[in-house]
Amino acid sequence: MFAVDRNLALELVRATEAAAMAAGRWMGRGDKNMADDAAVNALRYMLNTVSMSGMVVIGEGEKDEAPMLFNGEHLGASSSPEVDIAVDPIDGTRLTALGLPGAISVVALSQKGTMFNPKNIYYMNKLVTGPKAAKVIDINLSPAENISRVAEVKGKALDDITVVVLDRPRHDELMAQIRSAGARIKLIPDGDIAGALLTCKDHGGADLLMGVGGSPEAVITACAIKCLNGNMQCKLWPRHEEDVKEAKLRGLELDQVLTIEDLVKGDNVFFSATGITDSELLKGVRYDGTEIHTSSVVMRSRSGTLRFVDSIHMPKKLSELSKVSGIEYSTVVKA
Ligand code: FBP
Repeated sequence: MFAVDRNLALELVRATEAAAMAAGRWMGRGDKNMADDAAVNALRYMLNTVSMSGMVVIGEGEKDEAPMLFNGEHLGASSSPEVDIAVDPIDGTRLTALGLPGAISVVALSQKGTMFNPKNIYYMNKLVTGPKAAKVIDINLSPAENISRVAEVKGKALDDITVVVLDRPRHDELMAQIRSAGARIKLIPDGDIAGALLTCKDHGGADLLMGVGGSPEAVITACAIKCLNGNMQCKLWPRHEEDVKEAKLRGLELDQVLTIEDLVKGDNVFFSATGITDSELLKGVRYDGTEIHTSSVVMRSRSGTLRFVDSIHMPKKLSELSKVSGIEYSTVVKA
């Protein structure tokens, strides 16, 4: 039986805070791999102190051979509860390296065997909205129809609707369709997990997220959207024949709609995110000499609790932790 301690959510926030503080040291230094490396090490160290037996189902790094918490890696300090883990030590490595807004550190947990494993299928087409429009979206409909349904249920005019889209050439046609439907676009350079969360935030400035992004990010987004009672639908987005073959081998149809329940089953899902750089969702890490400030959001689907956690950390004390963990929180990184 799965008996997850409800305090796991608060353990998770310690892990994303540590990853964000470690990554934040590399903000604006132009080296995304060093930032990712710092976040990975901090996350691994902290998750290994959590009372759980976890397996990384969604790791990060294979796609671009960045440093990674690898799929299948075991994390945790106990033999139970057994959980699936999804990590993205930095969603927005380039944003971090360039000091641009929108980078977050993210972890999600769910009961063992409940997370969809995209394996070698790296991209999905995504459609996300918040709780108010959760019942009306349908990825099989055109962007214009989804926009019109969301506008109607939210009591908004079409030109009040804002759609978050990743800034990629593959979205040129999608963007033309969104604009001709009368909606506005919030174009993001990277970070579609944070982009998706904006659709669930009151006055978050976005009603929908549309377009193709990473499959690991899709599963992590599904964990958060489940906690927030929003809706998300995806379809596999093969890049070439190899991806099509892989999907077939796994018995997955390319036109199959993957629902939130397909991406993460059950109702005991935990999610934590900490801001690395500033965004509309969360403030980034602020280093202030004697203090480090972090802002996070923590959620659990079963209780529906949503916590915003603002923490003040003491670099002097953390430097003791750095000695055992090897994570730099408090001193300026020497390249
Ligand atoms: P990383 O920070 O891991 O590089 O991911 C950033 C991101 O923008 C994701 O948020 C998004 O899902 C994915 O990359 C899109 O992939 P691509 O950059 O290949 O279009």
